[in-house]
Amino acid sequence: MSQRGLFITFEGTEGVGKSTQLANAAATLESLGVDFIQTREPGGTPMAESIRELLLAPRDEPVNETTELLLMFAARAQHLYTRILPALERGQWVLCDRFTDATFAYQGGGRGVSEDRIAQLETLVQGEVRPDHVVLLDAPVETGMARARKRGELDRFEQEAVAFFERIRDTYRRRAGDDPRRYHIVDASSPLETVTTQVRDLMCKFHADLL
Ligand SMILES: Nc1ncnc2c1ncn2[C@@H]1O[C@H](COP(=O)(O)OP(=O)(O)OP(=O)(O)O)[C@@H](O)[C@H]1O
Ligand SMILES: [Mg+2]
Repeated sequence: MSQRGLFITFEGTEGVGKSTQLANAAATLESLGVDFIQTREPGGTPMAESIRELLLAPRDEPVNETTELLLMFAARAQHLYTRILPALERGQWVLCDRFTDATFAYQGGGRGVSEDRIAQLETLVQGEVRPDHVVLLDAPVETGMARARKRGELDRFEQEAVAFFERIRDTYRRRAGDDPRRYHIVDASSPLETVTTQVRDLMCKFHADLL
């Protein structure tokens, strides 16, 4: 039987470089001969991607925070059971752009939903499953927003004020500080080549640690 794959997530506020570094991590794993899939949240399966569209669309109707929270976890359940867990069980590594840390950061820190409530849903949906490693790309909120803004139209989250993202960044940093074995903070305000080297080194280390 093959060894279970590693589950690695990429987190951080808007535009810090999650997608860029996920692609870099993927290229590194390829060069190491590691079998993997890459995916994202909310989304990652056709149904979960439909829920993503519901979540991100700007709308006039105010969105209740519990509605948002449940949709996030509904998408996550579908993604986890139909795509992530089967891949891990086949021995593939899973690189995922955002996961439950983003729910603690955005719906918890950002919107003010209690951490207990999110933790209850986390257990309900995921049981004991948690990422093996979380790469937290950390940069001042404005740095990421300036990068993201270049892309044009803003989704429902990107339309929030700077203070919303400051609370998100604080939540991410606190969670990372509480569990330094699993969380790897990378200074995402550094030049792209520096960040890329650090993320590549992390992937090589995770791989070496399994041998
Ligand atoms: N270290 C860096 N220095 C300068 N520019 C960067 C750096 N990292 C990424 N970028 C650029 O910033 C932009 C946003 O990067 P990317 O899309 O990877 O961020 P993201 O975190 O995935 O954003 P989002 O939260 O919107 O998904 C891209 O144009 C990317 O090339
Ligand atoms: Mg992205």
